[in-house]
Amino acid sequence: MSTSIPLTRPDDWHLHLRDGAMLKAVLPETARDFARAIIMPNLVPPVVTGADAAAYRDRILAALPEGMAFEPLMTLYLTEDTDPEDVAAAHASGLVKAVKLYPAGATTNSASGVRDFDRVRGVLEKMAEIGLTLCVHGEVTDSDIDIFDREAVFIDRVLDPVRRATPGLRVVMEHITTRNGVDYVRSNDEGLGGTITTHHLIINRNHILVGGIKPHYYCLPVAKREEHRLALRAAATSGDARFFLGTDSAPHTDANKETACGCAGCFTATNTMPLLAHVFEEEGALDKLEAFASKNGPAFYRLPENADTITLIKQDEPVAFPDKIETGEGPVTVFDPGFPVFWKVA
Ligand code: DOR
Ligand code: ZN
Repeated sequence: MSTSIPLTRPDDWHLHLRDGAMLKAVLPETARDFARAIIMPNLVPPVVTGADAAAYRDRILAALPEGMAFEPLMTLYLTEDTDPEDVAAAHASGLVKAVKLYPAGATTNSASGVRDFDRVRGVLEKMAEIGLTLCVHGEVTDSDIDIFDREAVFIDRVLDPVRRATPGLRVVMEHITTRNGVDYVRSNDEGLGGTITTHHLIINRNHILVGGIKPHYYCLPVAKREEHRLALRAAATSGDARFFLGTDSAPHTDANKETACGCAGCFTATNTMPLLAHVFEEEGALDKLEAFASKNGPAFYRLPENADTITLIKQDEPVAFPDKIETGEGPVTVFDPGFPVFWKVA
């Protein structure tokens, strides 16, 4: 007996596509199920100007296989030298849907990020004025702050002060990993959203460290204690319009993951929708999956919902997802949830 659920085609509100051979290999994994994605700008060098974003968008569309449809929603990487007028022009032309804030040094390719928030005040004020969203990597980088506390401290020291200083600024707190993040998003109404990844609904910090170190479960923000995972599950499956899917699918080659100093990132583009169906079914909330994956994101970004649908099918036998995808740079391991999954996208 199989069950099938039609769903408005989902979007991914936080995705890493990289460039070159990696882009070519990973793009179809997302475009198969998703209509659109907010594309992270942390290339080397980063996507800083409107011209950079236009060129990157062209490379993404050129890498899309014949017959596949996909709309990249471009972002700019906020630096202390970002020009408010360039940002406003890139927004006015329809090219750019968000600006990304990385605190300097917080994660992969974040060296050009922001150290002194006073130096980006003009850009943030312009964004508030024109209604352009700020996507935030919410971790402080102070060496005296424990890595498991970096998100909670960021809310108090950076996020809340920035939001108070810039009334009207629309903010997405990305890839929230803590009850603190959930509570902060819930305590605010207009103009604050939170994205949640697939993997943070599935793993806690034990999965990374117990029984041997699992490099493919290492990402940033790092997975936290079980109580935080449960808070994320409750938020994602609640139907609350402030929470929506941002996979943070972040491909790195196995050589760059399985090494003495491995890169942060889980690659979930291939199996995200089946994994979410599993999680939402476990929570008795399959009826809330469409809100999380297909409706709340467009509502926040003031974009139309997708007109077409996908169908999720539950079968009797576990679905065999590929362990890895091959890329021109080497194999990339697909996120393994560690349990059998019976859902697939038709
Ligand atoms: O795990 C992560 N990987 N977190 C990030 O913030 C960046 C990303 C990447 O680019 O690899
Ligand atoms: Zn990311």
